Amino acid sequence: MGGYVLAIDQGTTSSRAIIFDGAGSVVSSGQLEHEQVFPRAGWVEHDPREIWDNTREAIGRALAKASLTRHDIAAVGITNQRETAVVWDRFTGEPVYNAIVWQDTRTQDIVDRLAADGGVERFKQKVGLPLATYFSGTKIVWILENVPGARARAEAGGLLFGTTDSWVLWNLTGGVDGGIHATDVTNASRTMFMDLETLAWDEEILAVFNVPRSLLPEIRSSSEIYGTVHTSSLLREVPVAGILGDQQAATFGQAAFDAGEAKNTYGTGNFLIFNTGEEIVHSRNGLLTTVGYKLGDQPVHYALEGSIAVTGSLVQWLRDNLGLIDTAAEIETLANTVDDNGGAYFVPAFSGLFAPYWRPDARGALVGLTRYVNKGHIARAALEATAFQTREVLDAVNADSGVPLTELKVDGGMITNNTLMQFQADILDVPVIRPVVAETTALGAAYAAGLATGFWSNLDELRNNWQEDTRWEPHLDPAERDRLNRNWKKAVTKTFNWVD
Ligand code: G3P
Repeated sequence: MGGYVLAIDQGTTSSRAIIFDGAGSVVSSGQLEHEQVFPRAGWVEHDPREIWDNTREAIGRALAKASLTRHDIAAVGITNQRETAVVWDRFTGEPVYNAIVWQDTRTQDIVDRLAADGGVERFKQKVGLPLATYFSGTKIVWILENVPGARARAEAGGLLFGTTDSWVLWNLTGGVDGGIHATDVTNASRTMFMDLETLAWDEEILAVFNVPRSLLPEIRSSSEIYGTVHTSSLLREVPVAGILGDQQAATFGQAAFDAGEAKNTYGTGNFLIFNTGEEIVHSRNGLLTTVGYKLGDQPVHYALEGSIAVTGSLVQWLRDNLGLIDTAAEIETLANTVDDNGGAYFVPAFSGLFAPYWRPDARGALVGLTRYVNKGHIARAALEATAFQTREVLDAVNADSGVPLTELKVDGGMITNNTLMQFQADILDVPVIRPVVAETTALGAAYAAGLATGFWSNLDELRNNWQEDTRWEPHLDPAERDRLNRNWKKAVTKTFNWVD
């Protein structure tokens, strides 16, 4: 058997291939960004063809960089941006429309229509999610209703739906030449269509949404052999053996396997996941109930999730839309030209507000401005927005669980920003901890694949791989912390009722 596992991380901004060794260390990687398509305000799309081409190229680069071949790779795992919906033709492999991305808000009318009978929490007991544009279900409905001929082709059984894990898996295992059409329980739990108890598609909800069952992938566990890579690929005949949505993968990569363990990922958005073990916990504080992971035939683990739509993408927006900085890393330098936010608060409600508010009517606001405020303060307010939003999510997790978290494990692109991490510890009043292997998302998918193929033998072995790298301790005066959190909450209320 090969001495390495390869993980494909199909994310919101890029597709990556990362090769890990048995100790869970990164050996090499390849990465390509794809275009973000914004056809109208609130619409966000990706080209699924570009994503698949980039995935293949990333695999080639990762193998070449480490001078490895398919014979060195024991298994492939897939992790992915969740909820983003692709619908394609099962006979030609051609997508019928661009992928509609999780941040896209075009389906608000469909949400309102479905919520007219029973409200946004209509299906929450069964699927753990409120009706919202975020999840895949209404995106599929939009494609069926708006792409000419799509409904008829879907009803005739000619179309397939998948989140990007399914799209990559289907193509990797042969596409029109026998590709496997499957997803895992974590991705299925983000559609609005999977019953959390039975882990099966719910016929009643499908009927309400008017989505044909034949479109949907088979739901499998997160760790099992789904199939082998097709002969046309560089990785031919390697088993594909792990699939986890990226936030669940990061939780798994952080070795947060047991109830009560949690992690927070700082990416395009922020996602805090709190493992609730085999128990389905329904939030009373604006969190989602979701699947954490399921290894083969073993019992499923559930989780509570605090999803924040915009954190890292606010930094990208300052770079790309305003030209305030040239690179994302410069945000820290600019923020450090000032001592504090100068009274400015930036609430990036670009896709409405997700957890804990779930306000589709909200839009972004920069408040507290005076002539004193300069671009350093704005950079600082942008970074602080990530920390304040995380504080609100952590408060919700603590309220739901009744046992406050005493530390927070973190990962994702923004954790290299020391200023943000120190402010995060200060605003939470708990230590923030970063592991040695910060590539937890890809690592989680590699772990799932390696467990299914015997590359790793059990969770204890994986737990032993986890090591602390950096710890940020809280230092802020409590009265100052309270004042900042109070002002933030006031700023949030200014974003409400913006969209009629
Ligand atoms: O739910 C959306 C999430 O999965 C996206 O994650 O890291 O690609 O921004 P990321």
